Amino acid sequence: MAIRQIRTIGDDILTKRCKEVKTVNDRIKILIEDMLDTMYEANGVGLAAPQVGILKRIVVIDVGDENGPYVLINPVILETDGSQTGSEGCLSVPGKAGIVTRPNYVKVKAYDEEMNEFILEGTELLARCISHECDHLDGELYVDKVEGELQDVTYDDYEDYEDFEEE
Ligand code: NI
Repeated sequence: MAIRQIRTIGDDILTKRCKEVKTVNDRIKILIEDMLDTMYEANGVGLAAPQVGILKRIVVIDVGDENGPYVLINPVILETDGSQTGSEGCLSVPGKAGIVTRPNYVKVKAYDEEMNEFILEGTELLARCISHECDHLDGELYVDKVEGELQDVTYDDYEDYEDFEEE
């Protein structure tokens, strides 16, 4: 188990487009394990490879449902539907949160660690998370989609995307 350093806003790597994974070798397997460890350590519900400085199209997600955690390699969003507007945060933007509108349903195609293609469908928090993490792979941060001002999050142990009360 290894915790990797999470890159934060202002780091150029977060603005770059990530490359597709062609084969899942031992390095990629270790990267995925480390991404999961790093996400859990930081109390996040999702993490994308560029957030630990690796420009590859890999995301990990765990929203606490019975089917997670999800590892998505080369994810492609096939369909979206509806919309949800709510508070969102990002481990790369510590201490901040903002209101973002996302699809309420997302259908994504991705590859697992054996490079088998699969389909994942999510609603509500999972849909928000898939959308947010896939944005990272194209160098996009939620702060560019925030409606209104970014808010300071005053408690230090908040979870990614968790709803919290306004002060
Ligand atoms: Ni993020």
